Amino acid sequence: MLKAGAAAALAVVGLTGQMMTVRAGLSGWAPCPQYGNLSCAYLDVPLDYHNTSAGNGQLLVVKANATGERKGTIFLNPGGPGVSGLSSLATDGEALMNRTGGAYDFVSWDPRGVGPYTYPGNVYCIADDEYASFWNGTVEATGINEIGNFTNQTDIQALYSQAPILDKKWKELGDRCLSGPNATTLGYIGTAATVRDLVGLADAIVGKNSTINYWGLSYGTLVGAWFINMFPDRVGRVILDGVLDATRVASAQSYQLWSDQLGAVEDAYTGFATACALAGPDGCKLAPSANSTTQDVVNVLNGAIKLGHDHPVQNHLTILRATMYSSLYQPQQWAEYGNELLPQTIATVENGTAESANSLTKRDAVYTQNSYTEAAVVCADSVDADPSVNTTVVFDNLVDVIRTVSPSFGALFPVPWQRCSYWPVRGTERFQGPFNGTFAHKVLLIGNAYDNATPFKEAAHMAEVLGDQAALVKQNGFGHTTIYQSSACVTDIITAYFNDGTLPSGTSSNPTVCAIDDDVELFPGVKSVDVVAQVGATDLSDRD
Ligand SMILES: *[C@@H]1O[C@H](CO)[C@@H](O)[C@H](O)[C@H]1NC(C)=O
Ligand SMILES: *[C@@H]1O[C@H](CO)[C@@H](O)[C@H](O)[C@H]1NC(C)=O
Ligand SMILES: *[C@@H]1O[C@H](CO)[C@@H](O)[C@H](O)[C@H]1NC(C)=O
Ligand SMILES: *[C@@H]1O[C@H](CO)[C@@H](O)[C@H](O)[C@H]1NC(C)=O
Ligand SMILES: *[C@@H]1O[C@H](CO)[C@@H](O)[C@H](O)[C@H]1NC(C)=O
Ligand SMILES: *[C@@H]1O[C@H](CO)[C@@H](O)[C@H](O)[C@H]1NC(C)=O
Ligand SMILES: *[C@@H]1O[C@H](CO)[C@@H](O)[C@H](O)[C@H]1NC(C)=O
Ligand SMILES: *[C@@H]1O[C@H](CO)[C@@H](O)[C@H](O)[C@H]1NC(C)=O
Ligand SMILES: *[C@@H]1O[C@H](CO)[C@@H](O)[C@H](O)[C@H]1NC(C)=O
Ligand SMILES: *[C@@H]1O[C@H](CO)[C@@H](O)[C@H](O)[C@H]1NC(C)=O
Ligand SMILES: *[C@@H]1O[C@H](CO)[C@@H](O)[C@H](O)[C@H]1NC(C)=O
Ligand SMILES: *[C@@H]1O[C@H](CO)[C@@H](O)[C@H](O)[C@H]1NC(C)=O
Repeated sequence: MLKAGAAAALAVVGLTGQMMTVRAGLSGWAPCPQYGNLSCAYLDVPLDYHNTSAGNGQLLVVKANATGERKGTIFLNPGGPGVSGLSSLATDGEALMNRTGGAYDFVSWDPRGVGPYTYPGNVYCIADDEYASFWNGTVEATGINEIGNFTNQTDIQALYSQAPILDKKWKELGDRCLSGPNATTLGYIGTAATVRDLVGLADAIVGKNSTINYWGLSYGTLVGAWFINMFPDRVGRVILDGVLDATRVASAQSYQLWSDQLGAVEDAYTGFATACALAGPDGCKLAPSANSTTQDVVNVLNGAIKLGHDHPVQNHLTILRATMYSSLYQPQQWAEYGNELLPQTIATVENGTAESANSLTKRDAVYTQNSYTEAAVVCADSVDADPSVNTTVVFDNLVDVIRTVSPSFGALFPVPWQRCSYWPVRGTERFQGPFNGTFAHKVLLIGNAYDNATPFKEAAHMAEVLGDQAALVKQNGFGHTTIYQSSACVTDIITAYFNDGTLPSGTSSNPTVCAIDDDVELFPGVKSVDVVAQVGATDLSDRD
């Protein structure tokens, strides 16, 4: 762990020359680890805001300087949970800067539970060299072998035969977490503490009792929904982008949230396949011919899924599904997925050797990283475990999600939500509502029409809950959160909001709709607006 620099109050000269007082607890800014083009500092924080005798933690704080004349600071949480603020500002800082006219510093941080620089950082429960043997022979290691609507009795029995095994393993995982190196900090890494860290950061960087500008992406919208209701007087300009329904997190058993997450994923997948078909084989290798249909592209992928199912090797089938799912997050990468990553993955499934499986496994960090950060955060925030929920109940839900919400992606397994019934700890503080506070400033909710991980209906529900305290904008495009496709309409809304607080009139039942810019392409020669028009015209009613 890196150590904080001088903790005493010191002064730093800002880009525009004015003096900015930095208060006790924040070290001086220096080039970031890995990314010298960003500035980093450390902030000391209490591990437990309600019990200072618990000692201190330390956050890695990262800043992308405003590129134009500076008007203030926007704090960013990039989501996950588990995503590093450092790597996010490095990759997405330019897109965020573009949407705010370069007039704001963006400040993010590696939240509790994340990475090697923040303490408490990554969550380890099983030693690296024990990890493979711990899960060996379980469905955690192999993934779920199923296809179509999961009606094959052999597959169903194979899954349910794993329920008593996972009941034991998930309990044992909890025991290991409680006897491992991170046992004493597990209660401190939830979202309420992260909200207090955000406020502490603003106190240190902007000033005590300052209003706080904030942009939350994905799970960062949960941080946002908790923040605005825990600190209504501190609300400056707040954007929740790719909105998670905070009321569900506060009321549902966590495993039930998988169904929420996948609410629009089949539509997003239809968009990907449609765009690929329109590109043809010259633009997208998954398209079999120059006049391929959306279904032709889906059939190519389904062929690989069937092969992976019929000739199971390690977790090939899950890796294929995970790669397909990953492709949907960032539409500017669709061509790379359609021409490289997915064809390579299909070739490996076709090859069907264990050796090639290993190389695939390494590529998908989600299934190999041994840190339990995601589970630790979502389970810390989760409602108390219902003792009647065991793995059989989780599997019943999973089968239902596959059949009624997403046959293509429902079987991705495991997802962190599903672990919470056996996770041994809840956060020392949780915020469970109400979410309909009255804030110092109104907030802006935005989301994509076809978001694979936060369906727009979650944004619409949060807009309903927030009532006249929020405006709702729908960006008529693809990807997870709005930042991977540009829309001058959305940029204008954001810029006006930060300039003078102006918000559009969009409401829960009647959101303001913005088109993606006409020049945005998904594959060479394939415009996003044309694909949106086709997906919008497809009858997707049976998937809601
Ligand atoms: C950002 O601005 C600060 C002054 O506020 C300066 O010290 C730092 O070098 C700048 N960082 C980068 C990466 O340009
Ligand atoms: C900062 O550096 C990283 C890594 O070298 C690079 O990927 C990124 O594009 C750079 N960002 C900017 C704004 O220059
Ligand atoms: C930011 O805007 C510039 C100028 O319009 C554009 O060239 C660039 O691609 C944009 N970058 C991102 C990441 O949106
Ligand atoms: C877990 O322990 C490792 C190793 O000591 C440490 O780097 C990490 O920050 C700890 N994480 C938590 C959540 O305590
Ligand atoms: C997994 O179990 C099989 C069969 O019992 C054994 O051959 C293999 O070595 C085990 N692998 C690991 C990583 O423990
Ligand atoms: C799955 O079920 C739906 C609805 O019952 C049906 O429309 C679809 O054809 C089924 N898919 C498969 C692959 O059997
Ligand atoms: C069911 O799946 C198994 C493999 O998991 C396969 O061997 C069997 O042929 C399938 N049955 C049907 C009716 O498709
Ligand atoms: C904090 O700011 C609010 C609004 O600007 C003000 O009403 C309040 O008195 C301030 N509190 C303190 C302790 O300064
Ligand atoms: C277009 O599709 C038809 C079948 O629907 C096929 O016979 C024909 O060869 C295709 N044309 C091209 C250029 O691929
Ligand atoms: C299958 O994978 C193995 C191991 O990576 C490789 O040596 C072999 O060339 C592959 N075979 C084909 C047909 O791609
Ligand atoms: C799992 O829970 C269900 C419903 O609560 C119950 O019927 C079943 O007996 C439980 N299974 C085990 C193995 O405890
Ligand atoms: C806020 O939400 C709570 C809980 O859902 C509800 O009881 C209350 O009536 C709401 N208040 C307003 C002003 O809508």
